[in-house]
Amino acid sequence: MKSIIITGGAGFIGSHVVRLFVNKYPEYRIINVDKLTYAGNLANLKDIEEKPNYRFVKADICDFDTMYTLMQEEHVTGIIHLAAESHVDRSIKDPFTFARTNVMGTLSLLQAAKLYWEAQPEKYEGKRFYHISTDEVYGALEMTHPDGIEPPFSTLASSEHHEAYGEDFFVETTKYNPHSPYSASKASSDHFVRAFHDTYGMPTIVTNCSNNYGPYQFPEKLIPLFINNIRHRKPLPVYGKGENVRDWLYVEDHARAIDLIFHQGTIAETYNIGGFNEWKNIDIIKVVINTVDRLLGREEGEDMNLITYVTDRAGHDMRYAIDSRKLQAELGWEPSLQFEEGIEKTVRWYLDHQEWMDNITSGEYEKYYDDMYGKR
Ligand code: NAD
Ligand code: DAU
Repeated sequence: MKSIIITGGAGFIGSHVVRLFVNKYPEYRIINVDKLTYAGNLANLKDIEEKPNYRFVKADICDFDTMYTLMQEEHVTGIIHLAAESHVDRSIKDPFTFARTNVMGTLSLLQAAKLYWEAQPEKYEGKRFYHISTDEVYGALEMTHPDGIEPPFSTLASSEHHEAYGEDFFVETTKYNPHSPYSASKASSDHFVRAFHDTYGMPTIVTNCSNNYGPYQFPEKLIPLFINNIRHRKPLPVYGKGENVRDWLYVEDHARAIDLIFHQGTIAETYNIGGFNEWKNIDIIKVVINTVDRLLGREEGEDMNLITYVTDRAGHDMRYAIDSRKLQAELGWEPSLQFEEGIEKTVRWYLDHQEWMDNITSGEYEKYYDDMYGKR
């Protein structure tokens, strides 16, 4: 039997990974370790919280003793590490929290796993430490898209995409060049993970994924924030000129990739995960406005006037674009959803789950956790 710790399982991507593993592998034991920061929300996991193969542990990954004891108690064989401070704007205001959780927290987990696994007779055999990272560690790409091409820049198949736009993508060997405190902290944690493989032989894997979208994303991130603002007819703060490009992947496709790589990925390898789905912010914002308007029975485009250009994010990376051909070629992974379908599903989900959103944005949610677990 596999006993797997998933860290950050109450967050956006983590909740999708926990749900997938709990439902797909009833024979595994899934232990969700989450500190429940502002971004952790147990409402994201309501549908699986009673499952017999699931356990939630409220804990800080920086707490080495608790991590080590938990690994012993649960005979842990695998770790899928998603817990992190994840929002770039917050990292600009408060970089220390990012260094603490993303760097020291990852190190604490690595060291706990090392001590626990090295004390077992079989040592690292059958074990796996899988670290979830981001494309932001690679820095920023230039805008290379030919003029006159309509967005998205890539609903084309990947090879055609390369032919059309050249080779200016992040690949697994792209040199790290992080710009924000968030990406610098993630880069540092990636280095520690690789160092534990190279120094101690720990069976590690790192993946770097592009921007995720879908249900249960905290409404500080572009897509859920804007969906909610459009619904309430509040201004949509577009940073700079709205020309920055992000490469969007539906969150369940990321979770499927994590499942595949956890089970079949090669130890010590890095895999990039992305959907060949680049959009300028302003173009994606227009799609979101049209979709929300249509689904709310408003005239499509009626809310375009909510677009408000504001001061740019400091150090705002111009373009991210992931080349995920290695993952496609070696493990046969492909995104399952076309973007049009994914965004329609996503907008519909947020509009159908207004209680989830209102709970967070009204502060009720904070109060609930304060009452249950003490002040955050
Ligand atoms: P999120 O902010 O929605 O969730 C993070 C979770 O980690 C929360 O539940 C939070 O309570 C928990 N957490 C934070 N600090 C903790 C600590 N010290 N101890 C224990 N738990 C703690 O983040 P997300 O968007 O789901 O991202 C998950 C991971 O995926 C992160 O490592 C992030 O860097 C990476 N990633 C995210 C994206 C994206 O587009 N969101 C893309 C690529 C990679
Ligand atoms: O690329 C992967 C990364 O994607 C993850 O590692 C991060 O955890 C995740 O937060 C995300 O980072 P971004 O900074 O790209 O995501 P965000 O949703 O904050 O912003 C997306 C783009 O939209 C970015 O260019 C900034 C812009 N933006 C964002 C917000 C919140 C705006 O123009 N206005 C806004 O209000």
